[in-house]
Amino acid sequence: MIARGLMLGPDQPVVLHMLDLPRMADALNGVRMELIDAALPLLRGVVATSDEAEAFRGVSFAVLIGGWPRREGMERKDLIAKNVAIYKSQASALQQHAAPNCKVLVVANPANTNALVLKEFAPAVPAKNITCLTRLDHNRALGQISEKLGVHVGDVRNAIVWGNHSSTQFPDASHATARTEHGEKPVRELVADEQWLKEEFVSVVQQRGAAVIKARKQSSSLSAASAACDHMRDWILGTPKGTWVSMGVYSDGSYGVPEGIFYSFPVTCDKGEWSIVQGLKVDDFARSKMEHSAKELDEERSMAYEFVKSEGDQ
Ligand code: LMR
Repeated sequence: MIARGLMLGPDQPVVLHMLDLPRMADALNGVRMELIDAALPLLRGVVATSDEAEAFRGVSFAVLIGGWPRREGMERKDLIAKNVAIYKSQASALQQHAAPNCKVLVVANPANTNALVLKEFAPAVPAKNITCLTRLDHNRALGQISEKLGVHVGDVRNAIVWGNHSSTQFPDASHATARTEHGEKPVRELVADEQWLKEEFVSVVQQRGAAVIKARKQSSSLSAASAACDHMRDWILGTPKGTWVSMGVYSDGSYGVPEGIFYSFPVTCDKGEWSIVQGLKVDDFARSKMEHSAKELDEERSMAYEFVKSEGDQ
């Protein structure tokens, strides 16, 4: 997708740097061979390595998909502990070797807290250059609305995903609109089923990752890769006029969300900078869902810091 221009635009040549564990070196080399065999005109080079310094050297955009996956019997705490170590190490390689102003998207779970660890251990990288992926949830929300209304997904916009990329996220359709033969209308009006919007829609989007894992016996891949391309493309090339998207960014306290966590907000992007959409009305229902997700992120942050501290004490 990247080498076909879906992330950076159809005229932008790319050099792909791919990092994997040493034991995956042969498989990674196989991917490198396939990229060459695909004869992609935009692809001007491939670096396939298990050395973090080499992988991060000079990169302008970094999509971090490496993380310790949750296995059966693992507690959330164990998952955070494993990933703190990975993100600490990648932070130092990023800070030392990436191009100045490198833009980072963290995809691996727990994405919001991995992004926070990255920020803490790469203090020279501006916080605004580190983001995490909630575009997958945002796209899932658009997909559910389109199915419900029987309209094309490209005609639905301005859903919001607030909070964590986890089952506490709050998919919010209250500001979304859909284009119909009678013009662009609020989704709330078109659906006319408050209960669906507050219950089924919310829980289907919250649980979609788990439903895909149940069906495929593997985590989402196509939709996650597509969402990662959407996230970076909109960030770098800008969001269409009148449209916002959801991105996990370092909270500045907007909408009463505590600072110091990576939280998904509605954002617009222009000239490579994102800004949180301000002034949207938040009712009591939305407020309580948003607070619930912020509380979970606060707990994840405490667990991550506890682990960082215990590593530092060793
Ligand atoms: C998804 O939303 O599809 C994934 O984040 C799920 C997972 O836990 O890998």
